[in-house]
Order: sequence, then C-alpha cells, then structure tokens
Amino acid sequence: MTTEAPVISVRDVGMTYTARRGAGNTVLRGCDFDIAPGEFVSIVGQSGGGKTTLLKIISGLLENTEGEVLVRGRGVKEALRDIAMVFQGPVLLPWRNNLANVMLPMEFRKRVTPETRAYARELLELVGLGDKAESYSYELSGGMQQRVSICRALVSHPEILLMDEPFGALDAMTRDSMNFELQRIWQETKRSVLFVTHSIPEAVWLADRVLVVGDRPGRIIADIRIDLARPRTKETRYTDTFAEIVADVEQLLGVEAGIS
Ligand SMILES: Nc1ncnc2c1ncn2[C@@H]1O[C@H](COP(=O)(O)OP(=O)(O)OP(=O)(O)O)[C@@H](O)[C@H]1O
Ligand SMILES: [Mg+2]
Repeated sequence: MTTEAPVISVRDVGMTYTARRGAGNTVLRGCDFDIAPGEFVSIVGQSGGGKTTLLKIISGLLENTEGEVLVRGRGVKEALRDIAMVFQGPVLLPWRNNLANVMLPMEFRKRVTPETRAYARELLELVGLGDKAESYSYELSGGMQQRVSICRALVSHPEILLMDEPFGALDAMTRDSMNFELQRIWQETKRSVLFVTHSIPEAVWLADRVLVVGDRPGRIIADIRIDLARPRTKETRYTDTFAEIVADVEQLLGVEAGIS
C-alpha cells in the first residue's frame, strides 16, 4: 500500500441526469475511491453502468450532481491541464498528418516549440510509428491510429491518463500488442491511469487495482488489488492466481447481472 497523497480522490460521487421533463435518472451513486500517483486502475462493469459518465466527471467534461472529485486536492476544473483522455475511437483530424495530430494539445496550449515537436516524434517512435510522422491517418491501420491518439494524450505530460475502452474496436491480436505497448508506456512514463474496458482479463492483466462497477445505479461493488509481478508477460495469463482473479471478477459481475 502506498502512503503517498492520492492524485485523484473521488468522494461520494453521484450523478443524476435530468431530462427536460420527467424524473431524473440516477446513474451513479456513492462512488468513493482514491488513485495513487503512478497507479494503474482498471474499471469494469455492465454496459450502461456509468463508467463513461464517471470518466467524464473526472476529466471535467461533465459536472457531478453529488459528492466531489479532487485532483491533488484541487477541484477538477483547476486541474484540467493535468488530465488527458483517450476515447474509444481515435478521433484524428484527417487533414493533419500524424505528427500534427499528436501536436494538437500543444497548439491549444501555445507550446509549439522544437522541444515539444521533438517529444511528439519521440512518442511516435515509442509506439513504433517513428516512420509514420508525416503520414495521414487514412494511411494507417485502426491499431496504428489508436497509437497516434495515445501519443496525443501523452504529449502534454498529463499526470493523469483516462482511457475509455481505447482498444474496444481492435482485433484480438492488435489488442494484445496494444496491451503490451500500454504497459511499457506506463512503466516508462509513470502516469496515473484509469482504464475502462469490457474485457476482464485485459483489466486484470494491466492493472494494480480493478474497480468493479455494479449498475442501477452505478456504484463501486469491489476494489481488488492485483498483486501479480511486473512486468506482466504472456505467461502471467496462464498462472492460477490470474485465473482466480478473473473468475472472481466474472462472478461479481455475473451476480450483479442476475445470471449466476
Ligand atoms: N447525456 C446523458 N443524458 C442522459 N442520460 C445519459 C447521458 N449519458 C449517459 N446516460 C445514461 O447513463 C447511464 C450510464 O451511461 P454510461 O455511458 O456512463 O455507461 P457505461 O458504463 O459507459 O456503458 P458502456 O459500457 O455501454 O459504455 C446509461 O443508462 C445512459 O443511458
Ligand atoms: Mg461507456
């Protein structure tokens, strides 16, 4: 257990969406957890359980109706520069080459300098796309595009990386190599990561902790520490401990969905 002050504190957060007429729809209730500096935390849960809503609240895109989120003890709005989000699709601008897409956050911050451009190239290098800096997104595969979008999220040195099913649209083999890539990037850059996925093995393999979100309304029903050795390897997946943790999470989600 780390004793360092948390990077993110989610305190009793709830969210009720209110339609223009009619009753509100409460999709999150009583969410309460901390994320330590450099910690990798996965979130799994049923579809519609409120995971994207939770990430949007932490990123400042959406305002929670109950509780509070603190980033290093400050409100989310004051911490926006420390947070980057990777969405399910890569959302690259087709008229910009890959390097220019990665540099977008630096343009917003008016920090286009030889140093920041060099760092953007370094990141593309890191994800194996060093020779694709001047190419356009339509010249890349889906997995390559997603790697570009991860570089774009990292280029501003965000302290916190929020990832909402970033590999959901990828085929199994590309997804597998992206998991290794992400573990390597995380080990090299030591960001705090909050990673939403529908794949329980992926959640367990990547994370220091897995938060299980139960639905109606969404709340954290389990917070499981994953004490598997780092770096995780292919062999990790064939260990008994790994299989047991995956089975535990499956059971928790199955019970929630009323199918076991
Ligand atoms: N802008 C909105 N207005 C009203 N209701 C919303 C809005 N966005 C999401 N919801 C509702 O909130 C609930 C949670 O949605 P959310 O997208 O957070 O779930 P999720 O866990 O990310 O699901 P999935 O795994 O399918 O991505 C759903 O019932 C959804 O209909
Ligand atoms: Mg979602």
